[in-house]
Amino acid sequence: MIKRLLLFLLVSICSGVTVVSAGGFPNYHAHFDFIAWDKHSVAAKVNASQKWWQSAAFYQIYPRSFKDSNGDGVGDLKGIAEQLPYLKEIGIAATWISPIYKSPMADFGYDVANFTDIDPIFGTLDDFDALIAKSREVGVKIILDFVPNHSSDEHEWFKKSAAGDNDYKDFYVWHPGRVVNGTRLPPTNWMSVFRGSAWQWHETRKEYYLHQFLSKQPDLNYRNPKVRAAMNDVLRFWLRRGVAGFRIDAVPFAFEVAPDTNGNWPDEPRNDWVVDPDDYNYVKHIYTVDQPETLDLVYEWRRVLDEFQKANGGDERVMLTEAYSPIDVVVKYYGNDTAEGAQMPFNFLMISWLSNDSDAYHFAETVNTWLKNMPAGRTANWVIGNHDQNRVGSRLGADRIDMLNMLTNILPGVSISYYGEEIGMTDVWISWNDTVDPSACHTNPDIYERFSRDPERTPFQWNDAQNAGFSTAKKTWLPVADDYKTVNVLRERNDALSHLNIYKQLHSLRNESTLRHGSVEVKAVTQNVLAVKRMLLNDYTYVLLMNLYDSTEEVDLKRAFDNIPDEFEYVIVTGKSKAKRGDTLKSTGIQILPKEAVVLRSATKLTTTVGYFAYYVPKNEKN
Ligand code: NOJ
Repeated sequence: MIKRLLLFLLVSICSGVTVVSAGGFPNYHAHFDFIAWDKHSVAAKVNASQKWWQSAAFYQIYPRSFKDSNGDGVGDLKGIAEQLPYLKEIGIAATWISPIYKSPMADFGYDVANFTDIDPIFGTLDDFDALIAKSREVGVKIILDFVPNHSSDEHEWFKKSAAGDNDYKDFYVWHPGRVVNGTRLPPTNWMSVFRGSAWQWHETRKEYYLHQFLSKQPDLNYRNPKVRAAMNDVLRFWLRRGVAGFRIDAVPFAFEVAPDTNGNWPDEPRNDWVVDPDDYNYVKHIYTVDQPETLDLVYEWRRVLDEFQKANGGDERVMLTEAYSPIDVVVKYYGNDTAEGAQMPFNFLMISWLSNDSDAYHFAETVNTWLKNMPAGRTANWVIGNHDQNRVGSRLGADRIDMLNMLTNILPGVSISYYGEEIGMTDVWISWNDTVDPSACHTNPDIYERFSRDPERTPFQWNDAQNAGFSTAKKTWLPVADDYKTVNVLRERNDALSHLNIYKQLHSLRNESTLRHGSVEVKAVTQNVLAVKRMLLNDYTYVLLMNLYDSTEEVDLKRAFDNIPDEFEYVIVTGKSKAKRGDTLKSTGIQILPKEAVVLRSATKLTTTVGYFAYYVPKNEKN
């Protein structure tokens, strides 16, 4: 699917990244360059104030599936507004919403026909204004999905461009093609992420246009300053309406290599290991993604946000950038010494590197790779799912859902949840007949499941009523999961050890100063047990222990980490624990049961820095 497509990007674009096999790290101590902890500078940092987003919890809403207010089987803006108090209840500071703009829905909203209007399926601009008003009342910020790489072919700009209108002629990427032996062929061998050539012939204009995704998603031409200006105005339009920022779609695709003096582009080299000529990875994407100009574009968008804030006040507006690129490229989106970029370039390592059989060394390497590569002074973010990836419980194990929520919420920085992760929703099998995702519909009944993103996009499970309380429609746009009678918000609210209640406990814990400001050390203490230690001078030490497998493990925290107090208390346990919240324990000889994950808090506060080392110290930006 584009799931593979996005995984494609991991495998192919990320060729610079070593995907580590399970069990590949026999000695965790060898892997980290520890930096000395300086008592005075730490104290100074803790006193410095954090920006609103720096230790916030974010939540992605897939709007078609969150809450349907008008009974048509598809979620909408009124439904989201109605449920904002739920997001507040579970500790969310901001929600990013997949596209809600006017769209023919060829890619369910990622094909935008008007960047400054709402699709009737989701409501109206008035409904959007009401959503913003409600978000202010409730205290949950709204972040929109900005889709800059392409529009719909039904966008006015494209229609005018195709008709040769002078003002829009170069808004998209056009080429007459190559004539070989009297036959007209596409200008290059570039491939679409959704399979097949990335070029589509247009009968009216008598030229090919580029579409790195569906042919109904023509690529905008960012070498045209008018396009940049028009898209910057789109950002301003939504900023004026009160959004707190943007998730930015498909960033690596914004630029293609510049054409030569004759207006031609080069072919991309073949990937010999791929035999299917329609496969996106049939060629190596050296001219169509991650071009150097893209960085400046991201910095330009940030300037638009900052200028708006300067002129209008309010909290810092944020950007989250989507790029499944090599980590050295992704971290450049943060910015550099002279330009600010995205506050949160999505960290997709947990999605792309981890699998069901990853061991604790593999987990530690995945987390530490981000921490080590993130530029100094920036904020980390942790993502385990989105609308393009199989749900985390289906990918990494339904019996590991709590531990994964624990991991993303105990690590320093921003946590980003995909709707349903908090209640433990897993993928839903969707028959070929019910399949609607274009990336699967373009294939056939034998292989569609490999490409479909429908399983992770099913309606949210609110309660055990009709359609899980999502909609009163006879038929919802995707089927509701069979497990909704037990996996739903209402039931889980009343079960102390449900996924939902554990998630809520984690989110209150995130307010503790150690978790907001403390250092972090992440390591495999055995092949099966991952440990995360958060520590802050004059404050409590927290440790997350998670046993990935089915053996009972024994952990000695004093051997694993420096500066470990003698006694701890269980502050979060799951249904897999014998221990109860509030039970105390010694820091040596800790038994961790199969698939158990616990958060421990030291009985005493840390008062010494002797032997006190930390691998990563979160800092405020620019200090
Ligand atoms: C990335 C989005 O996450 C995905 O859902 C979409 O299909 C592509 N961009 C194309 O817009």
